[in-house]
Amino acid sequence: MVWASGWKLASAVSNAGALGLIGSGSMKPDVLLEHIRKCKAATDKPFGVNVPLLYAEVEKHLDIIIKEKIRIVFTSAGNPATWTTVLKERGIIVVHVVSSSKFAKKAEDAGCDAVVAEGFEAGGHNGREETTTIVLTPAVCNNVKIPVISAGGIATGRQMFATMVLGAEGVQMGSRFVASEEASSHLQFKQAVVDATEGDTMLSLKQIVPVRMIKNTFFQEIQKAEAGGASKEELIQLLGKGRAKKGMFEGNLDDGELEIGQSSILIKDILPAAKIVQQIWAEFAESLSQPLHKM
Ligand SMILES: Cc1cc2nc3c(=O)[nH]c(=O)nc-3n(C[C@H](O)[C@H](O)[C@H](O)COP(=O)(O)O)c2cc1C
Repeated sequence: MVWASGWKLASAVSNAGALGLIGSGSMKPDVLLEHIRKCKAATDKPFGVNVPLLYAEVEKHLDIIIKEKIRIVFTSAGNPATWTTVLKERGIIVVHVVSSSKFAKKAEDAGCDAVVAEGFEAGGHNGREETTTIVLTPAVCNNVKIPVISAGGIATGRQMFATMVLGAEGVQMGSRFVASEEASSHLQFKQAVVDATEGDTMLSLKQIVPVRMIKNTFFQEIQKAEAGGASKEELIQLLGKGRAKKGMFEGNLDDGELEIGQSSILIKDILPAAKIVQQIWAEFAESLSQPLHKM
């Protein structure tokens, strides 16, 4: 996750027994290299790097990833056909993030080892189709043979269990780990995640790149511009540069872009990442033994 998943969070998650990912989308190449090296020093467990393929310096990032012998890459926001073969030839496991069963098939055809089926509830960039996780997960499972990792709206072990009933073999969680002690996000943003209530997030910027974010002043400005018939170019101008950094990293809760998912309503505390992983496993195990909750 941009402005959240640096080496501290990735290594803490991996050390706790899940798979930590470094979010390279907000990093310059030299910063990514530093995070990879620090992550290696902080864990001897596997970890991966997420690479949004639309990122301008994607080639430099992939070069570093290959040289540093990273074993697992999650790609998103772009065409998996462009880079998957290059990475696979170097023995790297490639997982691509998709928002539809059509894109999932494309990822499978491109040679990806697995897909993340990310539904409408998810924080950050999202699909235009608005397919919810509960529908998308089985739809993708029906359309591909490779393993499916479910994402979007999942913040608890019982939800993880539910996605496995739907056919997923794993889950990817974002928002829950923004509200972790190790996330590099600003404390005020983490607190805003904890404070969020139902209806506080919405998918916005659908004309440019759809993003689920908190409905703050910046969000209202976009809504107003869109209602007034703003063109794509005018919206890009309004978005300007550095909005995500301003909101999530610098803690400007009014004028910054605050990417977070619907699951924020389930997040009640900022915890160490290891504690979050532990809670999720405990709840998952409880769900296995008592699948019909409260019945
Ligand atoms: C703050 C934030 C930043 C994110 N940045 C990225 C990113 O750089 N690349 C990516 O593939 N997904 C990104 N995501 C999506 C997450 O990887 C994950 O798929 C999503 O958060 C899952 O849904 P959830 O938020 O409901 O847990 C981001 C999500 C959040 C909340």
